[in-house]
Amino acid sequence: MAKLVINENKKLGTIAPEIQGHFSEHLGRCIYEGLYVGENSDIPNVNGMRTDVVEALKEIRVPLLRWPGGCFADEYHWRDGIGEKSGRKKMVNTHWGGVTEDNSFGTHEFMELCRQIGCKTYVNGNVGSGTVQEMSEWVEYMTFAGVSPMAELRKANGHEEPWDVDYFGVGNENWGCGGNMTPEHYGNEYRRYQTYVRQYDEKRPVKKIACGANSNDYHWTEGVLRTCFDHTPAHMHGFMDLLSLHYYTVPGPWEKKGSATDYTDEEWYLTLKKAYFMEKLLKGHMAIMDQYDPEKKIGLSVDEWGTWFDVEPGTNPGFLYQQATVRDALVAGITLNIFNKHCDRVKLACIAQMVNVLQAVILTDGEKMVKTPTWHVFNLFKHHQGAELLMSALDDEGETGTEENRVPMVTESVSEKDGVITITVNNLSLDRDQELTVEFTEDADRSVVEAAVVTAGDVHDHNTFDQPDTVKAVPFTAYQAKGRTITLTLPKASVVMIRVE
Ligand code: AHR
Repeated sequence: MAKLVINENKKLGTIAPEIQGHFSEHLGRCIYEGLYVGENSDIPNVNGMRTDVVEALKEIRVPLLRWPGGCFADEYHWRDGIGEKSGRKKMVNTHWGGVTEDNSFGTHEFMELCRQIGCKTYVNGNVGSGTVQEMSEWVEYMTFAGVSPMAELRKANGHEEPWDVDYFGVGNENWGCGGNMTPEHYGNEYRRYQTYVRQYDEKRPVKKIACGANSNDYHWTEGVLRTCFDHTPAHMHGFMDLLSLHYYTVPGPWEKKGSATDYTDEEWYLTLKKAYFMEKLLKGHMAIMDQYDPEKKIGLSVDEWGTWFDVEPGTNPGFLYQQATVRDALVAGITLNIFNKHCDRVKLACIAQMVNVLQAVILTDGEKMVKTPTWHVFNLFKHHQGAELLMSALDDEGETGTEENRVPMVTESVSEKDGVITITVNNLSLDRDQELTVEFTEDADRSVVEAAVVTAGDVHDHNTFDQPDTVKAVPFTAYQAKGRTITLTLPKASVVMIRVE
């Protein structure tokens, strides 16, 4: 029988709430329709932001939102998105579907959206096709309180006070869509651009994020850090606060990634194996970071992660719209547990993307909205935000899968906040329930205060606009508590959350 041993006296660090962050790009129906419908829409909204979506995002306590891209960021010129809407430039979104971008959602709208959600802001700047001056002035526009040309412009556009820009990305994927640079070239550009991302208010610092690698491109991480540390202690306060990493779980080759809802058992395990690869990836990149920054002053920001399948049949291929099943729930559960376990270095992460794109937590169709299985997993994991990671280890958990694609049977993480211990466990098996004995080190009686599970009758089940509640979290009752031991029966293909006092 598998056993989970928890040492409640060993606290391993705080789980940054930002690990459960989200990403929203001007891509398909993420911003337009998914989040923003405009003030004159029939869809209920506050200042243009759709109320149903904002409410659902508040429920999972979204801690942070990244915007405006993605690849879109390195072609985005922020001045196009300010001022009178009727006067804003209409242009082609060359990256995503060649559709018209009318710039009706810009800086002010993004800040308003974050205000409504109650989350931190992560603005991604343009290095690929923008200038140092443009980037510098954007930061001045958003964050300077005094008298300056950009602050006056912001005030003239109706916003007297500066906003908090909690994080600022200096470029996106500059090894690819952000300019096809070499690591050394980008490292030097980073040094230059970040110099002019000014801190106008020491009490409200803008944390700077350097563009990191794609998947297992360790050469990029090494090259960027070597370049940034050459001559300069890059971890000195305010030079580089975080380094990013992008990794998508793509089961098939790029031209045939696989269906989001129609998959074989082999594809199930292949997908989960690829999601679990995040563990190896983090270790690889963190080992390089440790060489340059052993004190861990620079955080890792996994600011794009999630499943990437073929688009829903009949939809615009440039919109990256996909459905979601309990397989996505497992990918989310596996990934978020891995982030928790590495909370000493992973300080921020963004699922891609928030609404209607890739592994979205919400799907919309006109005025209709559904929460995906991934939303339900975030709702279970929210208790980890800001909690202390506890030392925990599995024993005899075994493996599952096919001959080709082996994965651990169970993955987990455990944290404590305000005296309540939250345990999140995934059973990756398609056909076997798993007994798990949870044992605490301290000899004290434990009781369960809350428990829920996300699973499905059929692993291909998903939530549609007609049947929005097919896959959702339901109360979990398959446990027995006795003294310091709790015995659980984890249903096959499930994400379980159990909170203990
Ligand atoms: O999330 C979709 C795209 O994936 C982003 O624009 C880009 O950064 C990544 O390649």
